[in-house]
Amino acid sequence: MALSKEYTSEQLNFFRICYVTTDVLADGLREIFKQEWDKVYKSTKGEWKDDSRSGTDFYNGESPQNQKRNALLLATIKNGNRREWENFAHITQGRLSDTDFQNAIGKVDVGFQALRLTTEKNQGIKNQATFLTEQLLNTLKNLQEKENQRQVLADQLYKEVPSFCILPPEPAHDIGSRDCEVAKIAQLLKELKKANYNRLSYSYISGNPGSGKSQLAGLVAQRFFHEQVKEMPDASSFVMTINVASPDSLLESYTNFARQ
Ligand SMILES: Nc1ncnc2c1ncn2[C@@H]1O[C@H](COP(=O)(O)OP(=O)(O)O)[C@@H](O)[C@H]1O
Ligand SMILES: [Mg+2]
Repeated sequence: MALSKEYTSEQLNFFRICYVTTDVLADGLREIFKQEWDKVYKSTKGEWKDDSRSGTDFYNGESPQNQKRNALLLATIKNGNRREWENFAHITQGRLSDTDFQNAIGKVDVGFQALRLTTEKNQGIKNQATFLTEQLLNTLKNLQEKENQRQVLADQLYKEVPSFCILPPEPAHDIGSRDCEVAKIAQLLKELKKANYNRLSYSYISGNPGSGKSQLAGLVAQRFFHEQVKEMPDASSFVMTINVASPDSLLESYTNFARQ
């Protein structure tokens, strides 16, 4: 779908004033007309009823000169239906500056206040920043549908990522399982998590080079992974090893992580 035309704010000013003129102002004038008519003629000619009887009463009240001069307008007025009384002045430019817009709508406000009509409608139009159209509303609806679809896909994707456990490469020889230390660290991690449920928890292992830190961390991670998968088989759990030996190995680790 192509949105072919973008309206400038000055054009929107013009449209809004058109609306005020043709709808709000005209409504106000219709109301005042009936008020005045009823005040003056209710007891003699009867209340204004928007029918041809009221219209004819109005017509007959005009002088013969006026009947002749305003024949065209009176032909409509004679029907008596105030809804049909509209006469929109010809404006050559289809735009209005902000100042002119404020001035114009201000005049309507002043007039309405003097006539004790409500200016509520004008307030809304004054503050209106966007130009709502059926097309725009449809576009918003489509966007919302697309967003819902995207959310469903995101949920699916999240649920359907398979769990993975990537550990440092193992030595060629057998490994001692170090059950006691592994259990101690696993317990510590659990307590950390419990204390900061919605935050990341960290644990560092320090020691001399070659003392077995990396192996120990791997054993803890492996145990953690197996417990997670057992406890939450529907969730995605993972263990990832980030190799910080060099910038290249770091980047490679992250690439691998992202791919997983
Ligand atoms: N649990 C273990 N069982 C057997 N050998 C181990 C164990 N932990 C470490 N080693 C040996 O020690 C070497 C160094 O261990 P590593 O975990 O890389 O040390 P660090 O990370 O502290 O430098 C390993 O390559 C392995 O040969
Ligand atoms: Mg190490």
